[in-house]
Amino acid sequence: MHSEFWHKRWETGRIGFHQSQVNALLKRYWVALQSAGEGRVLVPLCGKSLDMIWLREQGHEVTGVELNAQACEAFWQAQSSNDSVPITLYQGAFACREVEGLRTLCGDFFALPVDEFNSIAWVYDRAALIAFPEAMRRRYARKLSKQLPAGVGILLITLEFEGCEGPPFAVSEAEVHELYGERFEIQRCHSVSLERRDAERSEVVYLLRDRMAIA
Ligand SMILES: C[S@@+](CC[C@H](N)C(=O)[O-])C[C@H]1O[C@@H](n2cnc3c(N)ncnc32)[C@H](O)[C@@H]1O
Repeated sequence: MHSEFWHKRWETGRIGFHQSQVNALLKRYWVALQSAGEGRVLVPLCGKSLDMIWLREQGHEVTGVELNAQACEAFWQAQSSNDSVPITLYQGAFACREVEGLRTLCGDFFALPVDEFNSIAWVYDRAALIAFPEAMRRRYARKLSKQLPAGVGILLITLEFEGCEGPPFAVSEAEVHELYGERFEIQRCHSVSLERRDAERSEVVYLLRDRMAIA
């Protein structure tokens, strides 16, 4: 999946994945994941998601990582009425915007330096893992599993359906275990069919808890 694919999607407004409301599953399941307190949330492949605002409102510092500059711009424009948020260069590779604990890094998730992960307590993944084809999913999950600090928790929302075309790509429960099972205790806590004309899809929520935090 090349960057160009996503840039084109944003350029041509084909962003059906964007939700105009805060994700209901996030609101419902977040509390079950992070009952142990605050801490910074990483939102990989964040788009211009309003979920970041909601997470900030819950008291978390938030870092969203998004490839497309237009998406980052749109996110901040929606937040800051007339005031534009200054952009700084982070690690030579990311355009960084930050206001009161809410931060976006515009650049490639795979280029995110190890240091960046040290401050992360939680990860919110909605439509990030499922945005990648199989080989990239492995690379993505490996990076998270290797670089996130001890005790971290992940709220993961996937899709299940027949077929291997994407994005979005279908990700089975078996694959979630394959990708994350070595490090995380995995709880599948929600599955609901989505009404679609063309095919049946289920949206699935997992809570991933670091075994080190549980022991
Ligand atoms: C399916 S969308 C999900 C957006 C967001 N999570 C949401 O719920 O609205 C995937 C997003 O990931 C971005 N993206 C794709 N590859 C990326 C990468 N390597 N690094 C950072 N962002 C990426 C795309 O530009 C797109 O906005």
